[in-house]
Amino acid sequence: MKSNVRKDILNAFRNAKGEYISGEKLAKEIGCSRTAVWKHIEELKKEGFQVKAVRKKGYLLVEHSNKLSANEIYLGLETEEIGRTVHFYESVSSTQKLAKEFALNGAKHGTLVVSDEQTEGRGRLVRQWYSPKGTGLWMSIIVRPEIPIQKTPQLTLLTAVAVIQAIEATTGLHPTIKWPNDILINGRKVCGILTEMQAEENRVQSVIIGIGVNVNQNKADFPEELQTIATSLKIEADKTVSRTKLLQNICYQLEQLLNEYLHTGFKPIKQLWESYANSIGKQITARTAKGSYTGFAIGINDEGVLLLKQASGEVMEIYSADIDL
Ligand code: BTN
Repeated sequence: MKSNVRKDILNAFRNAKGEYISGEKLAKEIGCSRTAVWKHIEELKKEGFQVKAVRKKGYLLVEHSNKLSANEIYLGLETEEIGRTVHFYESVSSTQKLAKEFALNGAKHGTLVVSDEQTEGRGRLVRQWYSPKGTGLWMSIIVRPEIPIQKTPQLTLLTAVAVIQAIEATTGLHPTIKWPNDILINGRKVCGILTEMQAEENRVQSVIIGIGVNVNQNKADFPEELQTIATSLKIEADKTVSRTKLLQNICYQLEQLLNEYLHTGFKPIKQLWESYANSIGKQITARTAKGSYTGFAIGINDEGVLLLKQASGEVMEIYSADIDL
């Protein structure tokens, strides 16, 4: 209840578009006393919002904090479903693990789990995902699309496109995709995506889309073994990037693409994915568990499987591999 009042106050600030709002007007709009308004504003300040109070003028939201919080995420979120329910934590083992539990307990489509830090962040192929406090975006989204089980890998590709578009909109940077779903800038990894499905009796119950973005780390913040292969948006854009804005843009782009996908199918998403992919149309080496294969990457099929044309002319399907360009 209390946090709903804070959301109303934030909405009122948003509608005021940078102008002062009097305590009286806020109290009237929200339906509580001026003292209650003051108390809620004090709570918002503790969350990191900078609110200026001037006698006879009222309150002004000076600038958004760079702290992540459920209220910060709410303010400026332009979606109908994705991110509308938020579970925010200062620190968790893994948002992916938590989101799975929420999904099993019936969490609705679009529920977002986000944490300022992960102590056991998980990557693809049972790798660890380095998730330090305060600098990255560590988030998992529960989606419940009505699609056949075999089509769920398409959601990973769709997410990669959504994240790229969100990074472009937030920073002006132009990332590329390295198959299957690494997002790179200048050849270094800035984001990883991990999708996991829960199914019952051949029906998709939920898909948990895990997204990890390196946002505001400096080079020296990465462990030595990552310094040559990882990067952050701050390193590449040479400025601090708002994690809240990026998160809101990711939710927005994901919702747009998901709606398009459910209405018109995978084709437009696949085309976008291929336009961002750095390996398509190039000579690559795919290192798989069975061995390394070199050839020409001609594209992906509708399941997101990489198609590699070998010197013999034979087209090989690559399901899981690390790619060298
Ligand atoms: C990869 O290996 O490239 C995928 C990395 C996915 C990391 C994200 S961070 C949020 C979510 N929680 C996790 O434990 N992993 C995913």
